[in-house]
Order: sequence, then C-alpha cells, then structure tokens
Amino acid sequence: LTIKAGSYADELVKTAKTVASPGHGIMAMDESNATCGKRLASIGLENTEANRQAYRTLLVSAPGLGNYVSGAILFEETLYQSTVDGKKIVDILVEQKIVPGIKVDKGLVPLAGSNDESWCQGLDGLASRCAAYYQQGARFAKWRTVVSIPNGPSALAVKEAAWGLARYASIAQDNGLVPIVEPEILLDGEHGIDRTFEVAQNVWAEVFFYLAQNNVMFEGILLKPSMVTPGAECKERATPEQVAEYTLNLLKRRIPPAVPGIMFLSGGQSELEATLNLNAMNQSPNPWHVSFSYARALQNTCLKTWGGLPENVKAAQDVLLTRAKANSLAQLGKYTG
Ligand code: 13P
Repeated sequence: LTIKAGSYADELVKTAKTVASPGHGIMAMDESNATCGKRLASIGLENTEANRQAYRTLLVSAPGLGNYVSGAILFEETLYQSTVDGKKIVDILVEQKIVPGIKVDKGLVPLAGSNDESWCQGLDGLASRCAAYYQQGARFAKWRTVVSIPNGPSALAVKEAAWGLARYASIAQDNGLVPIVEPEILLDGEHGIDRTFEVAQNVWAEVFFYLAQNNVMFEGILLKPSMVTPGAECKERATPEQVAEYTLNLLKRRIPPAVPGIMFLSGGQSELEATLNLNAMNQSPNPWHVSFSYARALQNTCLKTWGGLPENVKAAQDVLLTRAKANSLAQLGKYTG
C-alpha cells in the first residue's frame, strides 16, 4: 500500500514510531534565544551563548534520560553547538538514543486584518533549511503557531494557522523530517472548558482539512496539541479526569488513528498538573501514543535547582530525571505520585 510517493516515506514512518514509543515522550528545549534569555534571567544569568550552552549541555547529558525521552527539540543554535568539552550536542543525544529535532518556524508576528492575533513566519527558504538540518542530524521538526481564545479566534487566524502548518508539514516531509504539527491554543483567558473544546474542534478540523489538501502523509507526522482545559483565569477549575475526558473526546472526533503520536505541550500548567493530566488520559487504551512534549513542565525545577552553578549540575539533572520518569509513567498510565 503506497501511502505517499517520496523518497523519505519509510524513514518518516520509522522516525515517528521511534519517537512515539511506549513510556517515552519529547523534551522540548527549543526556546528561541529571546525566550531562553527570559528563563536565564529568572535565575539571574545573562543571556550569553556560553550560558545557553552550559544549560543545554546539562539537559542532554542527564544520565539515562533516554529511558524516558525519545526525542529532543532543539533551537538552531543548539543543533550546531558543541559542549565546552567539544562534543557535539547532537552526538550526545544520539548516544542517549534520543532523536534530535529542530524548531523550524521563525516565530509569531501580528496578523494584519485580524483581532490583534498573530501568524507564524518561516515558509520562505524552509525546504533548504530542512535539508541542511537533516544533514546536521535532525530527524523531526516543529512549527508552533498559536490561537488565542480571548481574541476570537477569528476565522482568518484559524485558517492562516492551519494553512501554514500544512505547508510546513508537507515541506518537512519532503526533506526527511517528521513534522510536529503544533497549533497551540493558548491557556490565557477566563473562558470555561466547554469553550476551549469548541475552539479546539474547530482548529483541528481546519488543520486536518489542509493537511489532507497538501498531501501530508499522516503516518509520518506527530501532533502537539494543547490539552482541553479551562482558561487560566477561569474560576471553575477542572480535575485531571475532566481534562482527560474532554481532551480524549477531542482526539476521537478529530484525529485519525493513522497519526502515530500525540505529544502534548504543557502550556504553563504546573509540573505536577501536566503529569497528572497525562496519566489520566492513559487510563484506558486509545488508538494513538498519547504522551508529552513538555518544556516548562520538565525544566522549571531543574533550571531553578541549577541556578547557573557548576556544583548544582548533578542535583538539577536528578530533578529533570524525576520529572521525565514521572511523565514516562504517566504515558503508561502508571503514575502514582
Ligand atoms: P511548554 O511545554 O512549556 O508549553 O513548551 C512546549 C513547547 O515547545 C511549546 O512550543
């Protein structure tokens, strides 16, 4: 059965399956230099290449990380970076059996004609960049665009987000990279969980419409959705069971079982919430690998524990491993706290 002509088809399917393997998820460490600067500022460090290098080295070299993490998303700087000892960061990941991935979007800018919404840049030159990233060892890619509930979302913003994701996904596959499709529905807002559910259904319907129109091979993609939760400022909070029920309903209604992996973002949830919600979603069998692609929910305590001091590296790595293991168990539905 030929699903898509294209020299990378078999490899894409294999890569996606490797990342979506039982008990494993993704460590997102692809903060842009600006965002990484904010994280470093929170522990009183300057945003220098040396500090970013030290922090990223700590993350990728945590001993045994590959027992829980199957993929790591890097920012371009890190893909080409070595440790202070001159070892390529990509090589450390491969030794840990962690597939290197790369953020390929060029970030958000205002979307003219919308309700103060944004769109994601990066399609110009994307094919040649993807080809170069593949040469450098990347095997999957990420494109993050956002949808804001308080600002609408307008039909225009949703369509633009979906179309951009679909063009990107097609180009990434053409160049051997498994595309992570990430339309982040931001947590901000006072809306209840039903409103998030309604918006998420609309967004994913459009995303899959355009993915199909662009001949994207569903067996060779990964998704990075937001969980369906109440807005961050909504007074009525939801239990992990409620989040799981809403989110699984969304997946069942909108996501074909051909898609191998659903790797949720944490989006500002606490470390524990993100683990509990993932664990609740894995209490019953479902057609996909339902897992994590967390940045903040893996890194927050690790970063604080490190504080920029070499003598804290081991303690910080231990904290990272604790979170990674907890989420690995949650992927299996076996997290008990
Ligand atoms: P958070 O898990 O911190 O939301 O980040 C995930 C991510 O990579 C967003 O694109």
